[in-house]
Amino acid sequence: MHYIESGAGTPLVLLHAFPVDARMWNPLRVRLEDQARVIAPDQRGLGESSLDGSSAHGLATPPEERLVAETPSVDVVAADILALLDELELPRVVLGGCSMGGYVASALLRAAPQRVAGLLLIDTKAPADTDAERAKRGDVADRAEREGTAQWLSEAMLPALLGATTRENHPEIVAAVRDLIESQPTEGVAWAQRAMAQRPDCLDTLQGFEGPAMVVVGEEDTITPTAEARRMAEALPRGELVELPGSGHLPSMEAPEALAEAVRPWLSRVDV
Ligand code: MLT
Repeated sequence: MHYIESGAGTPLVLLHAFPVDARMWNPLRVRLEDQARVIAPDQRGLGESSLDGSSAHGLATPPEERLVAETPSVDVVAADILALLDELELPRVVLGGCSMGGYVASALLRAAPQRVAGLLLIDTKAPADTDAERAKRGDVADRAEREGTAQWLSEAMLPALLGATTRENHPEIVAAVRDLIESQPTEGVAWAQRAMAQRPDCLDTLQGFEGPAMVVVGEEDTITPTAEARRMAEALPRGELVELPGSGHLPSMEAPEALAEAVRPWLSRVDV
């Protein structure tokens, strides 16, 4: 599994959204470097992490231990992250995830709650997909396999991923996110869509988490809007909600300064 790491201090693992990779965290990661050891993995099949659990960079998994093209599931991705924590000898971390990364974080919390000292959920949601959402993911996965992902995927997703403020005023952020989407491997995009389609509702898991939890939402997010964030913050026994003006679904790219300002004091209170 490939990952980006920088900084020193509280171990903070950041799980990325779909269909991008660990680079989406760069603007936030550099702002937290003096406070946190930030580890941002490319999740299975995306970025530089392959679909069979190996990687051209980062940790080399011996062939006999590789998980080969598993049935798509966020549980498989969560198991990959746990294996990475073992390799890095990190028994407990602060776990953060944006959107799909939040689904994976919830899966990890379900599998190994003792590894999570604090939970940072950014623009994500708790419910499972409806049948219609599942069918749509199937269509996207099939189309990706048939046609590849160049252009149509970024054109379809950019208007939803980025808030109106970003789309109107920050062409450089739009271009950066487009580049991220268009560089994702076709098979990984299809696999991730099918993995998300299978995820269960995670509200129960959140209700059972006793540690500190911060739920962040961009006020212009239309994919996982404020109502979803509020529901998670209320379910989490120690949940607190932060709303970021001027940001859509990807505040680490759209409003990194405001996001870092919100995360810093919270992170300093988490006991790892
Ligand atoms: C994401 O940003 O990870 C996706 O939009 C989440 C989803 O498709 O549910």
